[in-house]
Parts: sequence; structure tokens; C-alpha cells
Amino acid sequence: MNLDILKPQITDIIDSNVGNVKQKMQAVCDLLQSTIDTYNWVGFYMAHESEPTLHLWSQAGIPTDHLIIPFGKGICGQVAVSNSNFVVEDVLAQDNYIACSIHVKSEIVIPMFKEGKNIGQIDIDSNTINAFNENDERFLEWINVQVATLL
Ligand code: SME
Repeated sequence: MNLDILKPQITDIIDSNVGNVKQKMQAVCDLLQSTIDTYNWVGFYMAHESEPTLHLWSQAGIPTDHLIIPFGKGICGQVAVSNSNFVVEDVLAQDNYIACSIHVKSEIVIPMFKEGKNIGQIDIDSNTINAFNENDERFLEWINVQVATLL
């Protein structure tokens, strides 16, 4: 799928006069999860303002129990510390991984920056193994830049 065709819809959500920040982030999750076959779970985990924890602000897909993730724990927690994209071809090969569903096979986590600070991330799970490549990285980096303008 050519992910760029979704960019105008993302821009419309971000620029809309309707909805608060979390509602817009929810709309982004819903759009991605409902239109991209391999994006089975989509969520934004955002860093607490003073504690070293990530908090789930919005999500689309099967609800997860992992609403708060400490920095360093799981794929998400590692990205909170590393400030780098993390593309996981096979989640079963990861030692430091938090399973949300037995169906998940691969995962991508892309950090979000505001004025150079890592403020959170978009996290996507796929039920397909090795579902993510550089096109996903560039697309999700672009989305995070758009969302960060709301924060
Ligand atoms: N798998 C993630 C946890 C979040 S769930 O995927 C929704 C991790 O290892 O950090």
C-alpha cells in the first residue's frame, strides 16, 4: 500500500477545528488501524511530564492492559530511552518485550519529538511477521511531526 495517500486525511484531522488533542490522536489511530491491513493495533504512548513512565493516550484495536509502561521496559520503554526507531521483525526473538496479544508477530515504535525532547511515541503491532520497512518508518515519523504540532 502507498502510505502517502493517507497524508491528506491525517492533515485534515490535525488541522480540524473539531476535537481536542486526544480526540485527534484517537482519530489518527482509528484511520491507520482501519485502512492499513497490517496495522492491527495502533496507539500513542506519551511520556509523563515528571515520572519516567509512558501513558497510553489513545489506541485502536484490541484494548491492552498496558496503560502505563516504565521507561526501559518492553519495546516502547526502550524507545523512550534510546530516542531511536525500533523495528521488530519477530517479537518472539526479543527478550525485553511486553506481549499485548498472542496474535502479534511484529512491531514498530517511532519516537515523537518536541523541541528536541522525546515526548512519546507511536506504537504499531502487526499480526503479520516482518510487516514494517523504511516506508513505514518515514510515514510514521511524518505523522509524529504532525501530531507534535498539537502538543
Ligand atoms: N509490545 C509493547 C507493549 C505495548 S503493546 O504492544 C500495546 C512493548 O513491548 O513495549
